[in-house]
Amino acid sequence: MYSKEVMDHFMNPRNVGEMPDADGVGVEGNPVCGDVMKLFIKVKDDKIVDAKFQTFGCGAAIAVSSMITEMVKGKTLDEAMKISKEEVAKALGGLPPQKMHCSNLGADALKKAIEDYKQKHKN
Ligand code: FES
Repeated sequence: MYSKEVMDHFMNPRNVGEMPDADGVGVEGNPVCGDVMKLFIKVKDDKIVDAKFQTFGCGAAIAVSSMITEMVKGKTLDEAMKISKEEVAKALGGLPPQKMHCSNLGADALKKAIEDYKQKHKN
């Protein structure tokens, strides 16, 4: 069974869509099922000020994506880098054991988006 937080973020996902002027983009595929998540971040003064996502995946992956875009806003890049898949799952009130692999997508796509930003903005 899914928690009410998972159902809420699945039925009403936050921050869905593309961000044409993103400062960093991370794409992550899930080797277990082939689902894919794309995460966009907007960065100002070392802080994530906005985030959006596009996910081709299961309900849990959509809920994870939605939750992680909410969690990163206002965090510094270092703080956001430390967000683990366990923390995302916890914020969603837990995920069924067979769906824990779905939370990998969010944390990994986020790390890639931050690395992409750093790559593009190193002097
Ligand atoms: Fe693919 Fe959940 S089954 S991410």
